[in-house]
Amino acid sequence: MTKKRIAVIGAGVSGLSSIKCCLDEDLEPVCFERTDDIGGLWRFQENPEEGRASIYKSVVINTSKEMMCFSDFLIPDDYPNFMHNSQILEYFRMYAKEFDLLKYIRFKTTVCSVKKQPDFSTSGQWEVVTESEGEKEVNVFDGVMVCTGHHTNAHLPLESFPGIEKFKGQYLHSREYKNPESFTGKRVLIIGIGNSGGDLAVEISHTAKQVFISTRRGAWILSRVGDYGYPLDVSSLSRFQHFLTKICSQSLVNTYLENKMNQRIDHELYGLKPKHRALSQHPTINDNLPNRIISGMVKVKGNVKEFTETAAIFEDGSREDDIDAVIFATGYSFAFPFLEDSVKVVKNKVSLYKKVFPPDLEKPTLAIIGLIQPLGAIMPISELQGRWATQVFKGLKTLPSQSEMMKDIAKAQEEMAKRYVESQRHTIQGDYMDTMEELADLVGVKPNLLSLAFTDPKLALQLLLGPCTPAQYRLQGRGKWNGARKAILTTEDRIRKPMNTRVIESKSSMTSTITMARLMLAVVFFAIIITYF
Ligand SMILES: Cc1cc2nc3c(=O)[nH]c(=O)nc-3n(C[C@H](O)[C@H](O)[C@H](O)COP(=O)(O)OP(=O)(O)OC[C@H]3O[C@@H](n4cnc5c(N)ncnc54)[C@H](O)[C@@H]3O)c2cc1C
Ligand SMILES: *[C@@H]1O[C@H](CO)[C@@H](O)[C@H](O)[C@H]1NC(C)=O
Repeated sequence: MTKKRIAVIGAGVSGLSSIKCCLDEDLEPVCFERTDDIGGLWRFQENPEEGRASIYKSVVINTSKEMMCFSDFLIPDDYPNFMHNSQILEYFRMYAKEFDLLKYIRFKTTVCSVKKQPDFSTSGQWEVVTESEGEKEVNVFDGVMVCTGHHTNAHLPLESFPGIEKFKGQYLHSREYKNPESFTGKRVLIIGIGNSGGDLAVEISHTAKQVFISTRRGAWILSRVGDYGYPLDVSSLSRFQHFLTKICSQSLVNTYLENKMNQRIDHELYGLKPKHRALSQHPTINDNLPNRIISGMVKVKGNVKEFTETAAIFEDGSREDDIDAVIFATGYSFAFPFLEDSVKVVKNKVSLYKKVFPPDLEKPTLAIIGLIQPLGAIMPISELQGRWATQVFKGLKTLPSQSEMMKDIAKAQEEMAKRYVESQRHTIQGDYMDTMEELADLVGVKPNLLSLAFTDPKLALQLLLGPCTPAQYRLQGRGKWNGARKAILTTEDRIRKPMNTRVIESKSSMTSTITMARLMLAVVFFAIIITYF
């Protein structure tokens, strides 16, 4: 039998891991990438390229290396926990080299359209039209993986800012921002307090005359550096904590999180406090914003009511004059222009089963990979989605009926709407643990803690209390990796290594203290359960 041919659209991190997933399942991938290199968003360039996400020079990732790595290819132990964008790209290059992925990529080739073949209902095949240096080409594929990202199209709601057309200063979207040089000595207003808005405010404030950051709703601010200096995601994403959040009411979890964040900075004192609860908005991760606010370099303002030629007037009636520049850090919208009718995006909302499969196709041969805004890293999620999709393409896994998928999608959307503030920012939200566990279940690689508790208690304990790293989904089942156990048990070493640059004699490990504390809690907790239920 000839191998099934799969078109992978885009060679960012989702595309790279999708190529690898195809190879692992003995499918034949052909990846189309519109630019001349891999990396997608993480390949910094001085000028934004059309059709590709664009980042500023200083971007440091906000998900730590142990939580964002591919499940079977660790990040070198001496790399910092939060890497600069250039190191992220370097890591992606290592991955491509290790698994020999480059030879499957056709660079400078844009996918223009993906249409069903006339016999789609039986063959499930797609006609893919690509364009490379003016030349069009048509190819037929047995499956398509769409890996085009969702941070490419700037969302610039100018209609919500009356008077902006009169404004004489410069204005731009954060997508176009590269470095703070041109803002030296200026009065700069940043709209939006998401991750980009916060980063830009901090960076520009070092050389600007004054920075204002305007927010409609306020925000809860997390920091990369978590408890005891461990990366936030390492100290917060474990199975045990996940379990606790499931059995506690959401309101209790909110109270806990808000207290914790207020302990670092009282959000009211800093003018940041939102009306909504902590879990109702995608968090902003920023270690330095409080520092810039307390030193007066950044001032927090409410929503802008209107602009004049030189000033911004806010909803509370206050105004700031002599504004030189406005940066809209108002986020992104996504679209799949080449898919025509197969996947419809309405108001940044899309109907996909488990965020991957359109429910209404006769054959499940189209998958969207990486279309999620997780509280955690995207990379391992894309990878697990790819493992699932390729198994479905092969017929190893089947999808439920259309009506069941529609029901599931409606339920997921309802839950999202119930939890989050209504905003175009909150249409593809997902919790890291929920998403990974659910996908792992579909792929059949969720580790069995109960049986491990008997056969390998040390590992089981780490799976329960330690950070839920991607390698945990390579312990068993299809795609099992022999290095997984060791990778999991040495997580702490790789976290410590990059900071281990000065010899200190007594080395007590803080995570083992954290782990012990959690263990005690677990014991107490199960004792209570056993006693009362
Ligand atoms: C400033 C910033 C910081 C971020 N920080 C984090 C973080 O800390 N942690 C995290 O997990 N995520 C972060 N993200 C999210 C980021 O989107 C993901 O990390 C990741 O880059 C997604 O990879 P991707 O492959 O899905 O998409 P992309 O990296 O966007 O890659 C898509 C690729 O598809 C290509 N392409 C698009 N259309 C076509 C077409 N029609 N034909 C052919 N090729 C096409 C593009 O050229 C591009 O190479 C951040 C995003 C931004 C904007
Ligand atoms: C990290 O920052 C990017 C954008 O700057 C954002 O899209 C992503 O959601 C952030 N991650 C988390 C876990 O908040």
